[in-house]
Amino acid sequence: MTTPIGTLIDLERYPVDQIGHDSFGKLLDEVHGALAHDGCAVLPGFIRRDALPTLVAEADSVAPNAHASHSRTNAYFTRDDPARDPSHPIRRFYDRSNAFIPADNFPADSPLRSIYAWPPFMEFIRLALGEREDRFFRYDDPLADVIINMVDAGNGFPWHFDTNNYTVTLAIQNAEEGGEFEYAPALRTSDDECFDAVREVLDGQSDRVKTLVLNPGDLQIFKGRYALHRVLPVSGTRRRYVGIFSFVEREGMCGSVERTRQLYGRVLPRHHERAGLRNDQLVD
Ligand SMILES: [Fe+2]
Repeated sequence: MTTPIGTLIDLERYPVDQIGHDSFGKLLDEVHGALAHDGCAVLPGFIRRDALPTLVAEADSVAPNAHASHSRTNAYFTRDDPARDPSHPIRRFYDRSNAFIPADNFPADSPLRSIYAWPPFMEFIRLALGEREDRFFRYDDPLADVIINMVDAGNGFPWHFDTNNYTVTLAIQNAEEGGEFEYAPALRTSDDECFDAVREVLDGQSDRVKTLVLNPGDLQIFKGRYALHRVLPVSGTRRRYVGIFSFVEREGMCGSVERTRQLYGRVLPRHHERAGLRNDQLVD
């Protein structure tokens, strides 16, 4: 049996299942306003406070199944370009550690999956993002559709631009310290990389960086393709847990064999079968 959704989502504050009602329209207007303003909408306390221990307990119980990977990346996830000046943003490489708890750790009755699978949640996210009905689907990847990112002491995410258009994340647990989300909205455009502005951020000399502290239970919708962003390293013994809900623009989309093995340490038959509908760009 799935967890009753009203015990997880604060439906009084966020009536995401009330399409057509004034309260729904008002909520949608607020999210649209935030996304239009700087590409980031936060719904504080989206998850009821009394439901957080359930989500944390679920994360703790499957945390040993997380897969960690390490890489050195620039903000663009591209190769070095030795022809450019050493200080150029393309040539700035940072250590990055990922640890993901794969999606098959969250069965149908899992609290986290109950949120992801609830049709009104998906419809609300679609409308919030202004996506067309025929271009918005749950990710069809049994290892990656709904996952938890786990961050231990010393780790964070260095500065980067996303290669996907948006991310939908849920703060589940914060570390004792660190883990702040920093972003510089609209730092580049679709036809201008604005390298000077990027360099200023990387050098810590930009006044365009905003800092966000997300608390457990907060839902974040973020458009990160044009906003440079990072997560500051965490410290302390408590882990940072963030749930990631993935939606894609094509039905049946699934991760590639190579990328899935890198992120989750294994693949399933589905990843071989769906080679024609690959998507390598969801988690960054
Ligand atoms: Fe990102």
